[in-house]
Amino acid sequence: MISNPIIDKINEKYQNLGENPETYLKGLLHAKPINYWDYIEVDTLLSLQKPRTDFKDEEIFIMYHQVTELFLKLMLHEVKQVAAEPELTEGFLLNKFTRIIRYTQMLINSFDIMKDGMDYDDYNTFRATLAPASGFQSAQFRFIELHCTGLENLINEAGKERLKTISNPSITDYFDHIYWKDAGLNRKTGNKTLTLTLFEEKYLAQFIGLATTMKGKTIADRISQIPNLSNELLTKLKEFDNLYNVVWPMTHLNTAKHYLDSKNENQQATGGSEWKKYLHPQFQQRKFFPNLWNETEKQNWGAE
Ligand code: HEM
Repeated sequence: MISNPIIDKINEKYQNLGENPETYLKGLLHAKPINYWDYIEVDTLLSLQKPRTDFKDEEIFIMYHQVTELFLKLMLHEVKQVAAEPELTEGFLLNKFTRIIRYTQMLINSFDIMKDGMDYDDYNTFRATLAPASGFQSAQFRFIELHCTGLENLINEAGKERLKTISNPSITDYFDHIYWKDAGLNRKTGNKTLTLTLFEEKYLAQFIGLATTMKGKTIADRISQIPNLSNELLTKLKEFDNLYNVVWPMTHLNTAKHYLDSKNENQQATGGSEWKKYLHPQFQQRKFFPNLWNETEKQNWGAE
């Protein structure tokens, strides 16, 4: 056989695996070339839009949610690597958070596709067929949170007061009082919306499992152990915290107001929450890196 550095490496690779390299080289000779549509799975991707009505704009609604889920996956891909990295260096964190910020900005800058890009009346008609589904049930949104920060930072002011009455709260206690329960739990009656019940049935065990694994090891925990964070990195981390927990929520809330309340009709959301109150960052008080913000900044969190 002709000697060539790449062929030599291929020989070595398969010999080390206890395989005959020639079989694999013959396979290479006959294998069909890969093409774009198979590699990117274009046909599968384009088969995933299944509107429930004949309103043309429903496809925009579905596709934009799918695009968002892909971007959340890109973000999760990065936050998982940050959380798993044994040696968090300045350069690594700057690189990763620059990417994460870029994805978040793309979600914010493109949200007009929802707010201005669908027919108002058509949206308000087809959305009735979607109840009790709601973007609230996006699990990736929560997985990102659970990698970024500890459960204690996902509790709003009222939740913190309630938790004070429990000595040594467990992870389950934290989940009982996590900010997003307020979207669907009536704390007086204990009743839950169907949206919340179905969401918890599908994902709560996974959320609890992840929070248990991440305890003391979230990105917020990890960065708090780094002495002397540079100003550049501090600014980046705060920028992400603000974009994800204030700017995106406000952009999203303004879209909800546009469709559900622009004629002062205060329509009920498909997920049934008291959405005007619930979705506001001032109410949620969700901060991934609270230690990086001063008291005034915290008090003005989400102030318009
Ligand atoms: C016309 C467009 C939209 C409207 C009117 C809207 C409205 C709402 C409302 C009212 C809620 C509160 C829960 C409920 O009662 O249903 C909610 C929650 C949520 N929506 Fe949307 N939404 C829109 C588009 C989107 C898109 C494109 C996404 C991307 C996945 C999304 C993701 C979410 C998330 C993650 C929550 C939970 C937020 C939190 O817990 O802080 N929404 N949405």
